[in-house]
Amino acid sequence: MAIPLLILSFLTIFIAYKLFQRLRFKLPPGPRPLPIVGNLYDLKPVLVRCFTEWSQIYGPIFSVYLGSHLSVVVNSAELAKEVLKDNDQQLANRNRTRQIAKFSKNGMDLIWSDYGPHYVKVRKLCTLELFSMKRIDALRPIREDEVTAMVESIFKDCVKPENKGKALVLREYLGMMAFLHITRLSFGKRFMDSNGVIDQQGEELKGILNNGIKLGTKKSFAEFLPWLRFLFKAENEALAEHDARADSFTKKIMEEHTIARKKTGNTKSHFVDALLTLQKEYDLSEDTIIGLLWDMISAGMDTTTITVEWAMAEMVRNPRVQQKVQEELDRVVGKDRVMTEADIPNLPYLQCVTKECFRMHPPTPLMLPHKANTNVKIGGYDVPKGATVSVNAWAIARDPAIWKNPIEFRPERFQEEDIDMKGTDYRLLPFGSGRRICPGAQLAINLVSSMLGHMVHHFDWAPPAGVRPEDMDMMEQPGTVTYMRTPLQAVPTPRLSADLFKRVAVGNV
Ligand code: HEM
Repeated sequence: MAIPLLILSFLTIFIAYKLFQRLRFKLPPGPRPLPIVGNLYDLKPVLVRCFTEWSQIYGPIFSVYLGSHLSVVVNSAELAKEVLKDNDQQLANRNRTRQIAKFSKNGMDLIWSDYGPHYVKVRKLCTLELFSMKRIDALRPIREDEVTAMVESIFKDCVKPENKGKALVLREYLGMMAFLHITRLSFGKRFMDSNGVIDQQGEELKGILNNGIKLGTKKSFAEFLPWLRFLFKAENEALAEHDARADSFTKKIMEEHTIARKKTGNTKSHFVDALLTLQKEYDLSEDTIIGLLWDMISAGMDTTTITVEWAMAEMVRNPRVQQKVQEELDRVVGKDRVMTEADIPNLPYLQCVTKECFRMHPPTPLMLPHKANTNVKIGGYDVPKGATVSVNAWAIARDPAIWKNPIEFRPERFQEEDIDMKGTDYRLLPFGSGRRICPGAQLAINLVSSMLGHMVHHFDWAPPAGVRPEDMDMMEQPGTVTYMRTPLQAVPTPRLSADLFKRVAVGNV
């Protein structure tokens, strides 16, 4: 008897609250929510496509209830500007799920921190120290080491006699490269030896990452029904255990670097050394240092793998584009040496290809949700304090009102009109804009351009035997970041002499 009564009272409170909200605020239109579950029943797995369809029905701004939580989605460049420029500060908080709150120590990092003194301090540290042009340059040898190591490993695999003409699964190589790059940048060491064997610490790191993904993607109703969270004791325990494991791993690495710095007197360019040496100046707690290191891993690993996989798929489907990039590389770099990041400014077509890929396939298509810290008006509608606001960067970048033939992969459009992708033009927002814009944007653009340049300079890429380019699966996998639904398979044929496929290894930077 007690449980039905409890449910009935929740229902009554919920309906009364929604009625109150509707009368008090002029909320954006949207699909009709059901009590308790809101619109959860109606969502399609690839959220960004679902939201883009809904924007055709309800208009460029709509409301959606994830359980009882109000989320507002904007789908046009004008509204994106209202969110990310005109009301930037009022919409600069974050919504933390239970898992995220635990892992970020309730926002003691950067990504999940609310806007306020802590955020301003840590953001300044990122802008002035971690992502300054000077440091991005100092970290370049790590990127070039890992990109050339990836090329070497693809080469070794594709020239094996048993692999002749066979397709490789690109994600395996791109994912490994991204893992080695970002963990080396953050934790200051390479977790794989020259024979390609991951060491014990690297295995532990992979274990933590995999467990994090498992816990993070586990959807439970407790997320949307905060009053039921007490029922999820086992999940809470698993989160606490995961958090302790990641902390202990990171503290060990921090200790190793402190000892090494004391011994040699040298400070390296990677993020652990940077953060430990800046700890006093910026008054950083240990939790914040740990949080920042893991922020970089979670924000900088899948995003680069995803972008390059989509770009390669587009080039396999569009041999004309692939050939045009190769012609440019052969003209600028030649066929007797390997390209480097210093070549990128002289490779304008490659830059257009990178941009076109960020337009069509932004890896975080709904960016990261912002949260209102006060009542705000967007597009003439009310967005109450506490609601989350998402910008559908994917829909905006495919809006036929602002892009000619938007679903055609045509890098030349950026030769015709130079459109910025780092937050000043609201038609193209792969990295967001405003206060919370991605601080790693320049580093990511350098890395993605370098990876793409190397891949097509060293190899010709074709679809697997019997697969027509038009039959390739170009749909997204569900998730906050949008991997290709079917991992890309392609056949590489080396096009440079064998001695140019060697890893250009550097020591610890
Ligand atoms: C293809 C690559 C990448 C893309 C497309 C991308 C995109 C984004 C987007 C859309 C946001 C959210 C912006 C917002 O909330 O308005 C973001 C935030 C962030 N990104 Fe990136 N990112 C990429 C790579 C990286 C890399 C390599 C790093 C670091 C090494 C990084 C670090 C961060 C951090 C720390 C934030 C949180 C910023 C904040 O909340 O203030 N990202 N990124």
